[in-house]
Amino acid sequence: MGNPRDFIGGSKWNLDTPCLVIDQDVLEQNLQNMQAHLASFGKGLRPHAKTHKCSIIARQQMAAGAVGICVAKVSEAEVLVKAGLRGVLITSPVVTDQKIVALMECLFRDPDLMVVVDHPTNARMLNEAARKQGSRLSVLVDLDPGMGRTGVPFREGLALGQWIHSLPAMRLRGVQCYAGSVQHILNFEERKDASLGWMGQAAEVFRQFRQNGLPAEVFSGSGTGTYEIDCQVPELTDLQAGSYTLMDTEYLQIGCSRNPQKFEKFPPALTLLTAVISSNHPGYFTVDAGLKALYHHGGIPSVIHPQGLGLTYEWRGDEHGKVSLPAPGKRFEIGEILELVVSHCDPTVNLFDYFYVARGETVVDVWPIDLRGKCQ
Ligand SMILES: Cc1ncc(COP(=O)(O)O)c(C=O)c1O
Repeated sequence: MGNPRDFIGGSKWNLDTPCLVIDQDVLEQNLQNMQAHLASFGKGLRPHAKTHKCSIIARQQMAAGAVGICVAKVSEAEVLVKAGLRGVLITSPVVTDQKIVALMECLFRDPDLMVVVDHPTNARMLNEAARKQGSRLSVLVDLDPGMGRTGVPFREGLALGQWIHSLPAMRLRGVQCYAGSVQHILNFEERKDASLGWMGQAAEVFRQFRQNGLPAEVFSGSGTGTYEIDCQVPELTDLQAGSYTLMDTEYLQIGCSRNPQKFEKFPPALTLLTAVISSNHPGYFTVDAGLKALYHHGGIPSVIHPQGLGLTYEWRGDEHGKVSLPAPGKRFEIGEILELVVSHCDPTVNLFDYFYVARGETVVDVWPIDLRGKCQ
């Protein structure tokens, strides 16, 4: 299989499959477009690295003007902090002893590290750990936008904020509210109503913080599906969009403000190359990317073909996919390479060790997916 870097300088069509390819021009455009859009509304971007799991891309996002980087897990934070990134926000509560030890090590390296809290006991544990280390830990109160995943109900946000503010080694900074359940609502107007409903309630808690003399510098939340919508919430300070970097078919099918049928602003920067390994039947053939290369969630991968042949992908188990032609005619030969847009980028990226990076059709770099497998 060789060293992936040996492919640099060659054509992406010669890469070993299945593999992930980033179109660097599209990625750069996506980073700039999101940054510019939010800046035009006076909002910050705190992009979520759970999508790309790559410290090189996180660094590019910071260089483009991001106010910090989000991660979901402490083990992801460890990699980013060791890679020199600062101002990392962990967007899920950190509650077990082992993880709190790891969190404190991250805090030692990154004094601007932040974490969300949704329970007074957790705040007390974190306070104790930070106090022992002689550090202060920045904290956001996690608010639950009706998902029942993490977060306190809105009506309990102020009380939890007051409790955290009373703890000497805790530095309360504000709130987080991520309405994940609304991000993929197909209809833009319905998504808008739903998101503004939840984010409006979170804004009310943020205002209560101010009225009660609590620190309220950060109100972080939102995602790719609601980036246009949530810019209308005056209190929101920064958006945590993640998928806009790479994109996937799940997001490409939702409507946006300009086009009810398609999410236009961010084209897919990520594709997966797969090879035809068997072609013995009229109308369809088998490729080498199945469930172990394409995460089975969120939709169906789409096949990009320069002649727009209307090819469709179907799951065919762990190792294979079935690609069908709308009408028998053109035959695909074994060894031909096809390009797919993945169905759900975050968990698909987590299946691979590196991205091949291409300018046009030429491989120009290889970036390790160094947060891969960091789910602890
Ligand atoms: C807390 C949090 N913030 C931000 C995001 C990024 O969302 P998206 O990929 O929809 O932009 C996620 C994704 O699951 C998340 O869990």
